[in-house]
Amino acid sequence: MGRLDDKVAVVTGSGRGIGREIALLMASEGAKVVANDLGGNTDGTGGGSIAEEVAQEIRDAGGEAVSNTQSVAEVAGGESLLQSALDAFGGMDILINNAGILRDRTIYNMEESDWDAVIAVHLKGHYCCSRPFAKYIRENNRTGCRIINFSSVSGLFGNFGQANYGAAKAGIAGFARVLALELAKYGCTVNTISPGALTRMTIPLRENRGETIEEKELEQGGPQHVAPICVWLAGKEAASITSEIFHTGRGGVAIMQQPRVIRQFHKSNGTLTLGELDGLVPELLDAKRANDEAARKSGAPIEL
Ligand SMILES: NC(=O)c1ccc[n+]([C@@H]2O[C@H](COP(=O)([O-])OP(=O)(O)OC[C@H]3O[C@@H](n4cnc5c(N)ncnc54)[C@H](O)[C@@H]3O)[C@@H](O)[C@H]2O)c1
Repeated sequence: MGRLDDKVAVVTGSGRGIGREIALLMASEGAKVVANDLGGNTDGTGGGSIAEEVAQEIRDAGGEAVSNTQSVAEVAGGESLLQSALDAFGGMDILINNAGILRDRTIYNMEESDWDAVIAVHLKGHYCCSRPFAKYIRENNRTGCRIINFSSVSGLFGNFGQANYGAAKAGIAGFARVLALELAKYGCTVNTISPGALTRMTIPLRENRGETIEEKELEQGGPQHVAPICVWLAGKEAASITSEIFHTGRGGVAIMQQPRVIRQFHKSNGTLTLGELDGLVPELLDAKRANDEAARKSGAPIEL
């Protein structure tokens, strides 16, 4: 018995990297998999047939899988994912919105094409793939479905040189919070992953800093470390967990803080004066610093 027996999972961008590991682990837990990937370069150019290689790998191991090479950045591509699942397996239960590209530049050098390409694959891609699935869930009252989105510390914390990617990844976290509300009625959950893994997306960033990555580090920090929480969230044990952000990688799993009011002042009769703000803003910042410090302490890794 696998945790995902009889479930149909679509994993976008699963020809390599994190998506591939999720597709393989889901299949080994009994899921029927649609492996999607257009097989392009890290910057989104080009294409190839790597999705079929992963589907074949799953079939060779005794599982069930088909491939799909459409782009998640197109509405028609997103619709084709649902269609692939329906044609091959007669339903769809799980969507992993993992496909991604990078076009890192500082804002001074970021051309419109760099902005558009990254927003299209990440933020619009989440819309293109989630909307047909959400409509299918509602029209068929298909309960117990899962959507797992891919954000990044680049958007949640901020990272130099990634305004396009960071904006898309922060947007994805907001998108997930809304979708979680809209799909709750159907007992479906929507959660977000913030991964950290050595893949073709991140290895060049390290190499550009003159670092060499040894084989041992690839084992300790490879994309296989991101897959377990994704599979766990897709299982029935996670039926009541929604709208959360999990950070994962390198043998670790963490839950992230969501935006919350930390401290507030209120004046019922009248507008706040600039003079009052002179005193109140430092108090707000003090409260935030204390909150950050508490989170830093409680967020330190606990060794298993
Ligand atoms: N690796 C990390 O440390 C890290 C950190 C934060 C976030 N992420 C996110 O995790 C996800 C997976 O990243 P990865 O490191 O495995 O990268 P990767 O480059 O190894 O894999 C991404 C895959 O997505 C595919 N893809 C790109 N555009 C597509 C499109 N339009 N349609 C279909 N497929 C497309 C690519 O061909 C590629 O195979 C991405 O969303 C990425 O932004 C990764």
